[in-house]
Amino acid sequence: MALNLDVVGRKIGPVTMQYTWKDVALYALGVGAGFEELNYVYEKDLKVIPSFGIAAVFDFLMHFGLKAEVNIAGILHGEQQLIFHNPIPAQGELITEGKITDIYDMGKDKGAVIVGKSETSHSNGKRLFTSIIKIFSRLDGGFGGQPAPKAQSPIPDRAPDYEVEDNPSPDQPLLYRLSGDMFQLHVDPEFAKMSGFEKPIMHGLCTYGFACRALIAKLIPGEPERMHRFDCRFSKTIYPGEPIKTRIWKLEDGRAAWQVVNSKTGQVVITNGIFEYGDIPKDEIRFDGQVAIVTGAGGGLGKVYAIDLASRGARVVVNDLGGPRDGSGKGSSTPAQKVVDEIKAAGGEAVANHDNVATAMGGQNIVKCAMDKYGTVDILINNAGILRDKSFVKMEPDTWQAVIDVHLNGAYNVTKPAFEVMREKGYGRIIMTTSAAGLYGNFGQTNYSAAKMGLVGFMSTLKLEGRKYNIFVNTVAPLAASRLTEDVMPADFLDRVKPEFVSPLVMFLCSGRCQVSGHIYNAGMGCFNRAAVVTGPGAVVGDPESIPTAEQVVANLDKIQALKGGKEYFELNEQVAEVINAFSQTAGPGSASEDSDKFTDPAAVFEAMPKAFNADAAKGVEVVFEYNISGDSGGNWHCVVSGGTCTVEPGTHEKPTCILKMEDKDFLAMINGELPAMQAFTSGKLKIGGDVMKSQLIEKLFAL
Ligand code: NAI
Repeated sequence: MALNLDVVGRKIGPVTMQYTWKDVALYALGVGAGFEELNYVYEKDLKVIPSFGIAAVFDFLMHFGLKAEVNIAGILHGEQQLIFHNPIPAQGELITEGKITDIYDMGKDKGAVIVGKSETSHSNGKRLFTSIIKIFSRLDGGFGGQPAPKAQSPIPDRAPDYEVEDNPSPDQPLLYRLSGDMFQLHVDPEFAKMSGFEKPIMHGLCTYGFACRALIAKLIPGEPERMHRFDCRFSKTIYPGEPIKTRIWKLEDGRAAWQVVNSKTGQVVITNGIFEYGDIPKDEIRFDGQVAIVTGAGGGLGKVYAIDLASRGARVVVNDLGGPRDGSGKGSSTPAQKVVDEIKAAGGEAVANHDNVATAMGGQNIVKCAMDKYGTVDILINNAGILRDKSFVKMEPDTWQAVIDVHLNGAYNVTKPAFEVMREKGYGRIIMTTSAAGLYGNFGQTNYSAAKMGLVGFMSTLKLEGRKYNIFVNTVAPLAASRLTEDVMPADFLDRVKPEFVSPLVMFLCSGRCQVSGHIYNAGMGCFNRAAVVTGPGAVVGDPESIPTAEQVVANLDKIQALKGGKEYFELNEQVAEVINAFSQTAGPGSASEDSDKFTDPAAVFEAMPKAFNADAAKGVEVVFEYNISGDSGGNWHCVVSGGTCTVEPGTHEKPTCILKMEDKDFLAMINGELPAMQAFTSGKLKIGGDVMKSQLIEKLFAL
């Protein structure tokens, strides 16, 4: 019977499984624990060997083979990866769901590979582990599918740092099978012979459990809860009673490679092992269930972003045109496909796309690829880029245009269709990629600088349009060694500027944890800082009645140029309001004329407001001002100006055009002419919400 290829992507589960401390102890005995590791088998202070997780969800794993309709006589456990998010408690209920992510064809005589990914959580609500299993189905190859990507071996070419000998008993499978894997191959001599073995064989996962104990004993003794990741490939079967040796190589901090050999024959029975350990980060940023598009992800920074996103659970569209550095000539599908292969080999999910971001059709196709394959888009990193550097006198139109097309228009082309998907679902994270060349300038890069600063402007407005849909847009200015920078950085410097140092910030900006929008960050070599457009306090030159002269401007240049005390505006309205306020010494009704009595109570101001209303100035004006005055004599008032009339009432309004918030004493000082409105606003004493521009009408509409 042929494999059922339609099952790819369909949800399997949830499947629940109850367990007690006895299941935990039975598993530990099944993988060789005893009196020497009492904390694995004794209910007092019991600790769970993390590989128990895979035995505990074995029933669930069977669904992958069954749903794919594999020929059961030919299946073998090919590879197994576990990624831990929290330690496994000693009892409770496990809830597992997942899906088949890929089915590969290794050829008629070689078989098929079924890849299943699942997530297991505990009845206490915590995520426990992600499992990625590769089932090798010897009799199901030759259906015309793609071959599985090849994984690189992590085993170093040197002697191991540790070797741990173990002697599984000749009866070991009889004990191990009680933890869930009841397959006849491990117990029934007749079945074993039918399957081509001289007798029942060890469960691969039992040897895996022995290795897990050995690695914990050497690298994190007594602390199995500090194990993060456990990954390997099963390469040979072994008979019960044969001695084994777990060989361990320490790699970088918190990471080791491992394999298990049959000590009698020297054959490697488990290989490509990776063991990661350390404290499991409680606040790990994850993208499980989310879909990310990374443009220009066939190399450099984009490749690292795509791999990082996938390793944190995202399904990734790896876009890359695959052309040369200057964007000339034809593209190639190879770079994007290679990154996809790498992601898949590590157990992640990704699809390659080779469209050109520089065309509207290309942008649409990239988003369509995400929609067709994964059904949505949560994250977009606009990263694709080329360079065509020329000094400005030699900057011909096509050189200018090509760079603008890829960087600026490219971001527009992909963001437009992606934004529509995000708006519909009410969630999105978009990253623009700028450059220090754009932010600060760089000789020979007018085209690139213009495009890169254009992206900052693009972000500044898109952040406003995306805000109410929970779409946040931020910009990163990276510094990294890549083919774009290989000839502009000194060679010895390149080695120290890995793109991996930029990615952590980008991962944060892509995540739901990011609650900022409209920010620009420099990132490189582990150094991060925020760049912003800052506006100095400046000076008011002349008065509102007369136009200042150029000489007056020059006379005030020091103040005009000073950035000390400068501020960053979130949007145009804020900045324009300040300019207008700069000419206004009063902000509204009840301004005390020199010879009138000063107001001493906000209520009196609002009482006087209708009398101060200037109906002529209110022609065509429809506006509602709401005042929230805090302090002992404060309260809420609103003033409705409509059809040339004005009504003032206590209380808030359902739909105010703008809201003015002040403390009672500041409000009175402003109304009495002692506190200029601009000063009140810039010092934060007057806060204006809603349509800031409309607050400028107050002065026109009310004249006392
Ligand atoms: P890179 O050349 O390794 O990566 C850019 C990728 O974009 C390439 O794989 C290329 O094939 C792809 N690409 C080019 N045109 C495309 C198109 N029309 N459609 C789809 N893909 C296309 O360079 P790197 O350094 O990783 O650059 C990534 C981004 O970071 C670029 O936007 C670049 O301007 C920006 N950047 C990089 C800096 C650095 O220090 N590496 C500094 C400042 C900005």
